[in-house]
Amino acid sequence: MSAILRAENLGKNFGGVRAVRQVSFEVAPGEIVGIIGPNGSGKSTLFNLLSRHYPLSQGRVWFEGLELTNVPTHRCSRLGLARTFQIPSPFSRMSVLENLLAVYRPEPLVVMKERAGEILRRLKLDRLAAEPASSCSGGQLKLLEIGRALMTRPKLLLLDECVAGVNLVLRTQIIELLQGLRREGLTILLIEHDMDWVQRLCDRLLVMHHGELIASGSFAEVTQNPTVLEAYLGR
Ligand SMILES: Nc1ncnc2c1ncn2[C@@H]1O[C@H](COP(=O)(O)OP(=O)(O)OP(=O)(O)O)[C@@H](O)[C@H]1O
Ligand SMILES: [Mg+2]
Repeated sequence: MSAILRAENLGKNFGGVRAVRQVSFEVAPGEIVGIIGPNGSGKSTLFNLLSRHYPLSQGRVWFEGLELTNVPTHRCSRLGLARTFQIPSPFSRMSVLENLLAVYRPEPLVVMKERAGEILRRLKLDRLAAEPASSCSGGQLKLLEIGRALMTRPKLLLLDECVAGVNLVLRTQIIELLQGLRREGLTILLIEHDMDWVQRLCDRLLVMHHGELIASGSFAEVTQNPTVLEAYLGR
């Protein structure tokens, strides 16, 4: 089947910093693909390019065969591309439920409420529904961030470090959640530093270093790749 996401020669410069350079890859429908790489290697910037939060300095992006290069962020979301951010930024005075309902969708409120209820139960956040988001723990905020993305009924979900700082029990819960979502047809591209977690979840990895894609393949392939070892260990 043809790719759900295709990136061709993506580049992003911040002044003299070449945060992303000449990055090309594809993601097939139903895959769970992990992006790894040292701090500052351009992973989050790549997500910002894919979700159209940043204009591209170079390159093109296609989602389900449709070119996204000049499509605004809100339209990407309506097309079925959702993302989470590395640092969750909920509406802290609004309740957990209201944070889900604040995600814009051209659907009746009753439909949104029903979906929000289902998502909160699935994320095991339902008992916090009426609590202000400011009372959530770091891990609960990560779940809320995933929940907000799921409210858009995405086909492709981009997750930027959704288990950073999250305890082991919740990490396993999130693996089960993401595997369940994949069985329902969702495709997932995620950034993560925890190699054990990545190995348990991802079908395939992409490795970034200094803004470039330096390797791709199975966990075993990339972790034995001398270029990847050098990038991580500086050897
Ligand atoms: N808005 C910005 N303005 C200027 N420079 C930026 C901006 N965003 C990122 N950068 C720079 O681009 C490079 C890549 O940053 P990015 O956040 O994409 O890395 P990352 O791989 O996500 O790192 P981490 O694992 O620490 O989250 C870094 O050198 C960073 O300082
Ligand atoms: Mg990042």
